[in-house]
Amino acid sequence: MILKKIIIALTILFSVSVFAQKQARIVEDFNKNWNFKLGDYPEAINANFNTSDWRTLQLPHDWSIEGAFDKDSKTKQAQGFLPAGKGWYRKVFTIPANWKNKTVSIEFDGVFKNSEVFINGKSLGMRPNGYISLGYDLTQYLNFGKSNTIAVKVDNDAQPNSRWYTGSGIYRNVRLVASEKLHVGKWGTFVTTPEVSAEKSKIHLEVTIDNDNAVAKEFKLVTSIVNSENKEVANFTSTEKIGAKTSEKKIHDLKVKQPKLWSTENPYLYKVITKVYEKSKLVDNYETPLGFRYFNFDSEKGFSLNGVPTKIYGVCLHHDNGALGAVENIHAVRRKLTLMKEMGANAIRMSHNPHSLEMMQLCDEMGFIVQDEAFDVWKKKKVTNDYHKDWDAWHKQDLEDFIKRDRNHPSVMMWSIGNEIREQFDSTGIAITRELAKIVKSLDVTRPVTSALTENVIEKNFIYQSGALDLLGFNYKHEDYKDFPTKFKGQKILASESVSALETRGHYDFPDGIKAWPTKHGAPFDGNADWTVSAYDQVKSYWGATHEENWKTIKSQDFMAGTFIWTGFDYIGEPDPYPFPARSSYFGIVDLAGLPKDVYYMYQSEWSNKTVLHILPHWNWKKDQEVEVWAYYNNADEVELFLNGKSLGKKAKQNDDLHISWLVKFEPGTLKAVSRKNGKIVLEKEIRTAGEASKIDLKAEKTSIKNDTYDLVYVTVSMVDKDGNLLPTAMDLINFEVSGGGKLVGVDNGYQANLESFKANSCKLFNGKCVVIIQSNGKKENIQLKAKVGNRIPISLIKINVN
Ligand code: GAL
Repeated sequence: MILKKIIIALTILFSVSVFAQKQARIVEDFNKNWNFKLGDYPEAINANFNTSDWRTLQLPHDWSIEGAFDKDSKTKQAQGFLPAGKGWYRKVFTIPANWKNKTVSIEFDGVFKNSEVFINGKSLGMRPNGYISLGYDLTQYLNFGKSNTIAVKVDNDAQPNSRWYTGSGIYRNVRLVASEKLHVGKWGTFVTTPEVSAEKSKIHLEVTIDNDNAVAKEFKLVTSIVNSENKEVANFTSTEKIGAKTSEKKIHDLKVKQPKLWSTENPYLYKVITKVYEKSKLVDNYETPLGFRYFNFDSEKGFSLNGVPTKIYGVCLHHDNGALGAVENIHAVRRKLTLMKEMGANAIRMSHNPHSLEMMQLCDEMGFIVQDEAFDVWKKKKVTNDYHKDWDAWHKQDLEDFIKRDRNHPSVMMWSIGNEIREQFDSTGIAITRELAKIVKSLDVTRPVTSALTENVIEKNFIYQSGALDLLGFNYKHEDYKDFPTKFKGQKILASESVSALETRGHYDFPDGIKAWPTKHGAPFDGNADWTVSAYDQVKSYWGATHEENWKTIKSQDFMAGTFIWTGFDYIGEPDPYPFPARSSYFGIVDLAGLPKDVYYMYQSEWSNKTVLHILPHWNWKKDQEVEVWAYYNNADEVELFLNGKSLGKKAKQNDDLHISWLVKFEPGTLKAVSRKNGKIVLEKEIRTAGEASKIDLKAEKTSIKNDTYDLVYVTVSMVDKDGNLLPTAMDLINFEVSGGGKLVGVDNGYQANLESFKANSCKLFNGKCVVIIQSNGKKENIQLKAKVGNRIPISLIKINVN
């Protein structure tokens, strides 16, 4: 009896300790200690190659952003006149001897472009697509317990190859993954929720198991669903068999009672934890994100999430991170998404290609509805050397890999198979659309297939005629929307791209000075001599609309699921309609440095539940100049404007107005707006005429960062007068010095025609402001940023803790 008890106790102890074992899979950050050199070095694949004159760097890395703007650059205007070319990366590393029986692979989240990876002199393969995540099994080529050489050739030489800035190099993260020979395959899980409600939900999990052993195996497959407090809410275990050297799909079905639903306001996440046991040994563990939500597109009522009618308040984003170039960094992405969330956006369109893992993960965590997009071109080119050249050989695999990587993200609610694809205008579009939709459906039937179309004349649109789209995305032409319910009867419709209005932060032209975009693409643009565009929402592309024109249309049409504004942020490249030196776009609601333009507050007043009162422009004008003052506001009946204490009258939005305005004769002093509801003050906003520059104001977005070599802090630099008022036209050159645990990795003032390097230690203020980006250098020392301008104004200092 006692013996039996001891045995039971021991068994429990054993199984507790076995099942408590959490990690079998080893996932290592593989970004550090790479050597890099621009140019072509085929011999670098060999172990004895000498890299003493190569740079040592930490990935992710983008060499284009380090280069100078050049009017004659092969990348041309579309890519912001930055260099491209070829480059090699190389890393020598040791693999532990005790990994001998493991399967070891390398994962690249994105290499732009035409990468070829070599391990110990052998090519593992090449991949043209610069946005796709890729990986290789290294096992058979590795020297265990010894030195290994990995070399990556990157060829971004054939230009132009994009309509926007791409960056060049290994610009996303790299990982080394080691698992036992019996393991979950690459992107080997697919979780769906065939039934979801607040009472109970069903979970359907497919797990692809790879057996790299030369013998068949028996194993236990354990699924555990944990909530965001890490508490298990469901589990299932099965005993399985798999043949030698093979891959098999296993299915687990589970239920969860009263799941918390994922929504854009409360993006509650669960995790699926998959464990593989051989006898009682844990041989692999794998995590998959899970969110319980259901959504529907309706041809009359638009979009709903969890049964709640929800307009898609979306923005299109390109992948660059401003001054960091294409370098992906989760902190940069979080900052971008935070700004969008605070504006009230609830959706992101991944224009026009697969984005990073961090982007997908943060959209899950922060609550964005994602339109995930695969391509900007198919077989027919947009520019000479774009993806059309790789279409035949690669589109199938690229599309499959894209879906497999992203289909577990609860944020993803639409698959876009292409943006403004040329084939919509000819009959070849029919077959290709059907082929692509079929590939998507073979991997995921839970989200609609869409495409961003420009042509709304049915006879002329062959992508539409294919009948293979579940959701019609239309770009621009907002005046036509009203006819869609009859023209596309029964179809679900979304404004996949809209607006393309232009603004420069803090620059204001008055109505008689507003320069409109020429009515033809490429026509000379008689714009402002300093390549600015007025920040009043009045300048638009000839195919687009002002923000207000577009939003009024979308807002009033219930069948329209919502829209994605072109764009949330300015991006490098596509500075149309200006020529050089303009090098980044004007379309953003927020500038390239991450500083909001005024129209940000129009969206905030419409899209968010924040109470808003914003007035523009600034208050430094010539005496007696007539100035148009605009106010964006909400949650109030009226706004009263005062100049130096004197009322200029009360105004209220009429009908579908999105702003109110006054014509004011300038006199220096204080312009104050007061919003009221039922006679009670809701908000007050003041702007004052700034006096002389007296101080450089430094504001860090956070007080501390980690010493992990990745964490970032963004510091906004402003020139202010003695009372702290922003000098709204200051353009001084500020010099920076960073010491301690950080290094300066980027500067930017958001000015679209600024040709100073994003990597300089100085930056000119633009309309009073610029931004400095500091990255942890690994030292656990507090950071100090010094900002200096001439001798008249004292040096400013800011400290950031490092822990
Ligand atoms: C759209 C296109 C975008 C961007 C935009 C600029 O037609 O889809 O990628 O080029 O125009 O207005």
